[in-house]
Amino acid sequence: MTDRLNDGDNGAVPGWYGVNPNDTDLKPNPHPHYKHLRQVQPVNLTPVGEWRLSNYEDIQKLLKHSHSGMRDMVGLIPGETREQTNASKFMLRMDPPDHNRLRNLVSKAFTPRSLSTMRPMIEALVAAELDRVSSQGTMDLVSDLALTVPAASMCAMLGVPFEDRHKLTELVSLVTYRLAKQAYPHLQEQSEAAIMVLAQYMLVLIEERRANPSTDILGQLVTAEESGDRLTNDELLQQSIGLLVAGLETTIGLIANGMLCFSRYPNEFEKLAANPSLALSAVEECLRFEPSVPITLRVLWEDTQFGGVTIPANASVYALLISANRDPLYFTDPDRFDISRGEAKHCSFGGGIHFCLGSHLARMNAEIAFQQMSKRFTAIEIDEAHIQWAPSLFRIPGSIPARFQHRS
Ligand code: HEM
Repeated sequence: MTDRLNDGDNGAVPGWYGVNPNDTDLKPNPHPHYKHLRQVQPVNLTPVGEWRLSNYEDIQKLLKHSHSGMRDMVGLIPGETREQTNASKFMLRMDPPDHNRLRNLVSKAFTPRSLSTMRPMIEALVAAELDRVSSQGTMDLVSDLALTVPAASMCAMLGVPFEDRHKLTELVSLVTYRLAKQAYPHLQEQSEAAIMVLAQYMLVLIEERRANPSTDILGQLVTAEESGDRLTNDELLQQSIGLLVAGLETTIGLIANGMLCFSRYPNEFEKLAANPSLALSAVEECLRFEPSVPITLRVLWEDTQFGGVTIPANASVYALLISANRDPLYFTDPDRFDISRGEAKHCSFGGGIHFCLGSHLARMNAEIAFQQMSKRFTAIEIDEAHIQWAPSLFRIPGSIPARFQHRS
């Protein structure tokens, strides 16, 4: 790890300081790297000219209290041409007033009340998957559990055929690299190609909804589009692709990373089995401890001070959510996995007006998965040497071979 310190009151010396996005050790073993960065340069200027914040307080300030947005002061998404920016219409890439309009159109489907209608379907599906692997004594925690649950809920919400889940997951993981163009220039071509395939796929479904109206989110968005100028054709397509990207990978990561935690900390798994009402608090601790989305981005609209360093207007600033979640000023003994901790809120869903719209859905999916796993099985043993990571900007395991015992 490189150890250079800030040179003076404002001049941060650019460097990766141990957190180089292309370092292959970063996904399997991120926390020592982020701890180092937090200690040596919490307000960090990277060699590619972007800034990164790793302290809890600075990240809260950026997301909730700074004058900033997703685009720069002339409305461009960093790293994109005017043409590309004009074509980007998913709500997470928009600023007000368009952001509010798009978010309002889909948000009804994401309230805890609307989601509760899906709960029995997800519970039955998890039970069926676990019945299927039960007699084997082995399973892949990704393909047999983590992928199935969010795929079922996203497919049901968007009206996408469940059989296509593997193909969609692959495409979606490549699309995530668009969120960090400067750090991953070599993957942009693949990422663009994946978007084109997804767009073709969604266009067919949208046309079907036009011919046969439906009550899923896609059907509702088509109706919204047709009932006035509230949603353009492009906006409609991009909300549907964006929702798939935002909802699928992230939750696969939550459930898979959570099961990794339970296998590494079996006492916590037993605590959950003995007291299933801890399931929601366990979900929060998994989100804090091993978040699937390590970063989010804002562009500053005025010079802003973070920890004594002034970052200039128009700079791109990454919030290292994964690092904030282990900030010792906000979490007691942050490297301890404790499903009953109930402390300050983690940063894994971001903050401010872009706070994750699917947080309730993600929590419900993971709650069901963890509850059923702990009720049926004990002693989940994973083969650490054979964990594979999906090719994604996010921290998503692609495969986790595991053995388990039945709970008697
Ligand atoms: C564990 C699972 C999930 C994690 C860790 C996660 C994380 C995040 C993060 C970090 C952001 C950016 C927030 C910001 O910049 O302040 C975000 C935004 C968003 N997420 Fe999630 N997410 C998850 C699941 C979901 C699900 C299941 C959906 C549903 C489809 C979803 C839909 C969205 C949407 C629509 C946005 C953009 C909101 C806006 O711009 O207003 N997410 N999510």
